[in-house]
Order: sequence, then structure tokens, then C-alpha cells
Amino acid sequence: MRAAVVPVYGPPEVVEIRDIDRPEPGPKQVLVRVVAAAVTSGDARIRGARFPDGFGALSRLAFGWRRPRRPVLGGVVSGTVAALGAKVDGFAVGDEVAGMTGTAMGTHAQYVAIPAKKLTHKPPTVSHSDAAGVLFGGSAALHFLRSVDTGANTTVLVNGASGAIGTNAVQIAKHLDATVTAVTSGSNAALVTDLGADDVIDYTSVDLAATKRRFDVVLDTVGNLDPASAARLLTDSGTAVLAAATLAENVIPRRRVKAGVAPERAEDFAHLMSLVADGTLRVVRDDIGLDDIVDAHRRIDSGRKVGNIVVHP
Ligand SMILES: NC(=O)c1ccc[n+]([C@@H]2O[C@H](COP(=O)([O-])OP(=O)(O)OC[C@H]3O[C@@H](n4cnc5c(N)ncnc54)[C@H](OP(=O)(O)O)[C@@H]3O)[C@@H](O)[C@H]2O)c1
Repeated sequence: MRAAVVPVYGPPEVVEIRDIDRPEPGPKQVLVRVVAAAVTSGDARIRGARFPDGFGALSRLAFGWRRPRRPVLGGVVSGTVAALGAKVDGFAVGDEVAGMTGTAMGTHAQYVAIPAKKLTHKPPTVSHSDAAGVLFGGSAALHFLRSVDTGANTTVLVNGASGAIGTNAVQIAKHLDATVTAVTSGSNAALVTDLGADDVIDYTSVDLAATKRRFDVVLDTVGNLDPASAARLLTDSGTAVLAAATLAENVIPRRRVKAGVAPERAEDFAHLMSLVADGTLRVVRDDIGLDDIVDAHRRIDSGRKVGNIVVHP
């Protein structure tokens, strides 16, 4: 099968398209024929061995010390069931499914073997592209907005509103009846307004750290706020969440600033796809072929990716 392989850590150009063996599903795994997969900031971090401060050694232990232990990246898949392990219930060959593979990755290929518990059925009204596009940023946005009191009468600042987490966070916060201020560059202001943002701060002309405005929830997806600068943007009862926090920011407990890793839960995948199906969530995405995956990594590394990149191996 064709796959995008990352034999060594390095720049986007280390990614190679190769023919490799098709995986065999283990007893509790499902073999999925990949129709669509996401190329994410997570993939680019692993490829470049570029982890948040303090996470370098831990991440290399998880992903491979000298080179990627699992050279086919990709943590999100939407596709059809091609074969089942002996102990799998609830899925049949031909079913349309979507899910996330955690640290096992492997979706940037024509087939991936994935534990059944990491998959859910894809509603027929949601396209494979939308399913693959929504799960990474959507799972993180759901988790972080649920971890704070986002709801009616709350004001939410989404820093990095045009990215994978950001485009979902703007829409989910609006769905929860919050008033949303989106931080993005001017070129993405129309997009985030279209997604529902009530107000836009163009960070290229306004210094976010110097604004006098205060919010009940601050969600930072960029990583340019630290606990002190995030707390300065909060109302007296507000809480900030740092999605790209350092190890120290993750382990030192603070009353008003949270961090952490978003879980990958099949029930969240189903919920996100139901929000896509009923029109609550619009998946902002570009679709590419496997041969364009090096460019996708370049775009992510530039920091300018808008929404999600969906690859069709
Ligand atoms: N903790 C977790 O569980 C978890 C889960 C998922 C992701 N993450 C992390 O969260 C971070 C964001 O992920 P992502 O996939 O959403 O990123 P992404 O899609 O790559 O974000 C790209 C966007 O960031 C915007 N941006 C860049 N600099 C900005 C700035 N100074 N102010 C405001 N916006 C800016 C860009 O908009 P402009 O072009 O307009 O600047 C671009 O649209 C990554 O570090 C990722 O590793 C953490």
C-alpha cells in the first residue's frame, strides 16, 4: 500500500511516499481502508521532533528516541472497514467509520489497523473529508471548553481562532451561547466572523497582552500566552486554558489557568459528527492527495494553516 513515511525527524522534506506492507489487524483491531485522514499540528510536531518546552525527552520516549518509532504519522481517520480482528464486535466489513489512533498513528496510508474502541460509525450525511477534518481540533476544542464554564452569559476569547482547534472552538462556544472574541490576523477575520465570532482582534495591529478587555474564558491555542499573561485577560471569576502549554505549565497547579492533553474519546467523535450533520459545525478544510503531503507539512510549520488539511491516500 502507499504511505507517507517519516524515516527520520526533520523538516517537511523528510516525508517520503513509499510502498509498504499493509497492516494486519490484531484481535481487537479493525483494518480501515483510509478514505480521508487529517494532517495536523500534532503530526508536524512529531515529524520535526519539536515539542513544547520540557516535553522533549518524554515525547521522544513515546514517539522514538532517535527516529520515529512509527514512521507512518497521522492520528485521524475516516474510511471503510476492510477486515476485523477475531474479538471485534459492533463493526462489519464495509461499515463507514471514523476515529483517532493516539500515539499509534498510521493513518497517512491506504490502510490502518486501529483498536475498535478508538472508532465510531460515521453518519452517512457526514462526508469522509468532514469527519477526518473535525476530529482533531474538535476533540481538543470540546475538551478545553468543557473544562471551564463556557455557556450563556460568558465571554470567550479564542486565541488562534483560524486554526484547527480555533475554528472548532469559535463554533462550539457560540453553540453554547457564549459571546466569542476571536484573535487572528486580518486576512482570517472574515472567516472567523462567518463561523460566528462576535468580535475579532487582529493581532497584527493590536497587542493582545496590552488590551484592557477582560474575558470569562481565555482559550490559547497559539502558545504565546503564559499563565501570567493569560490571567491578565481574565475577569475576576474567569479561567484560562493553555492548549500548547509547557511541561511546567502542565504540572504546576494554578487556580485560574489550566492546561492538559485532550482525550480521544469515541463518544466525542460521535458528538462532533452529529454537530457537523446538523449544521452546527462547519469543517474548514483543504483536501489534498498523498503526493502533496510535504507541502501540507510546510504549511503547518509556517504557522499559517487555516482550519484543517485532509489527505486522501
Ligand atoms: N493539549 C492538547 O491536547 C492539544 C491538542 C491539539 C493540539 N494541541 C496544540 O495546540 C496548538 C494549536 O493547534 P492547531 O492544530 O489548532 O494549530 P494550527 O491549526 O496549526 O494553527 C494555525 C493558526 O494559528 C494562527 N496563529 C498563528 N499565530 C497566531 C497569533 N500570534 N495569534 C493568533 N493566531 C495565530 C494562524 O492564523 P493567522 O495565519 O491568521 O496568524 C493559523 O490559522 C498546537 O501547538 C498543538 O500542538 C494541543
